[in-house]
Amino acid sequence: MCQNHGVAYIKPGVVEVQSIEYPKLAIGDRMCHHGVILQIVSTNICGSDQHMVRGRTTAPAGLVLGHEITGLVIEAGRDVEFVKEGDLVSVPFNIACGRCRNCKVGQTGICLNVNPARPGAAYGYVDMGGWVGGQAEYVMVPYADFNLLKFPDKDQAMAKIRDLTLLSDIFPTGYHGAVTAGVGPGSIVYVAGAGPVGLACAASCHLLGAAVVIVGDMIPERLEQAKSFGCEIVDLRKDTPLADQIAEIIGVPEVDCAVDCVGFEARGHGSDAGTERPATVLNAIMSVTRAGGALGIPGLYVTGDPGAADDAAKEGSLSIRIGLGWAKSHSFYTGQCPVMKYHRQLMNAILYDKIQIAKAVNVEVISLDKAPKGYQDFDKGAAKKFVIDPHGMIPN
Ligand SMILES: NC(=O)c1ccc[n+]([C@@H]2O[C@H](COP(=O)([O-])OP(=O)(O)OC[C@H]3O[C@@H](n4cnc5c(N)ncnc54)[C@H](O)[C@@H]3O)[C@@H](O)[C@H]2O)c1
Ligand SMILES: [Zn+2]
Ligand SMILES: [Zn+2]
Repeated sequence: MCQNHGVAYIKPGVVEVQSIEYPKLAIGDRMCHHGVILQIVSTNICGSDQHMVRGRTTAPAGLVLGHEITGLVIEAGRDVEFVKEGDLVSVPFNIACGRCRNCKVGQTGICLNVNPARPGAAYGYVDMGGWVGGQAEYVMVPYADFNLLKFPDKDQAMAKIRDLTLLSDIFPTGYHGAVTAGVGPGSIVYVAGAGPVGLACAASCHLLGAAVVIVGDMIPERLEQAKSFGCEIVDLRKDTPLADQIAEIIGVPEVDCAVDCVGFEARGHGSDAGTERPATVLNAIMSVTRAGGALGIPGLYVTGDPGAADDAAKEGSLSIRIGLGWAKSHSFYTGQCPVMKYHRQLMNAILYDKIQIAKAVNVEVISLDKAPKGYQDFDKGAAKKFVIDPHGMIPN
């Protein structure tokens, strides 16, 4: 029997590398003939994982984490027709059946058949269907023909694996935030958050032709990272209000579009920058975006937050100034990114050198046993995207 090890959530602040079951081509006690088993080549730590590890969700102890998976197919089920053993593939973090009405129109983030509790599923995530996560050596991927993106050339892909590993989540997610905010040639954009998603979004805004990309955060190293590839920055610890800081850059206190790459653990601005204020980003992007503009909201908001400061927020109810957004006819785009809508195009953007996404988000490769340290460093605000290399396959 093959061995497997994975990163498990133990309790708030603690993850552990444990011996876990080697995956089977099965869903519960039913065979999963449409699935494959992957030997994982790279698997990334995400800000979304941090919500669970900080104890801000109802994630159960023992949950094997990891939804950003790239791997080699080592076994394919009987009904897998087009993916073959030996293929190097990117796995969208959304698990999707390819058969329901949402999948059929490309809404793979809210597939109706992969999670009995609600639409949408992911590997290794609370409330997302109970699928085993992929911060591990091996993982099972269902509906393989539909879900997987095969890289055209393995050697070429391994040479760019630091970039391609970001196709499973944050590159498409950041890009989706920009697209849904209406970013295009000449746009002036505000991106809230300079974590990996915010940085991927900012790089995507450049790819889409934005004229000015202004990134806001309160962590100086992350803002420096945004500056390193041509973004303007606003430091939200300053007393100068966001709109005034924007006016100092572009002459007016208003942008064409904005993207929330922060989510419900947002902190306040100015003297409140050390305090959690979950509605801050949503209210800020409504106030600085022009009337008629669109707001991309990939930042995550939850239906249950045991760690919230008040009872309303514990149920995901926040003090959003919806009247302002309504008065300005804003469009709001929320939800999980449907990765499959974008991953092939973004793969080509990487392979043909149209974007340096690993450099933009500052990828650092670590071994599986260093994952707990990676979680700690990321939680402290390291300006890095940690990529776990469980089999030592990633070239230097
Ligand atoms: N929709 C999706 O499909 C999807 C996919 C991946 C991640 N996400 C979500 O995107 C968000 C960002 O992910 P990440 O990995 O970059 O996380 P992260 O925690 O590393 O980054 C969040 C950043 O926001 C900053 N921040 C806090 N309050 C702020 C404020 N008021 N204004 C501006 N910045 C502020 C923090 O300092 C931090 O740098 C998370 O909520 C994550 O769950 C969503
Ligand atoms: Zn993720
Ligand atoms: Zn479906």
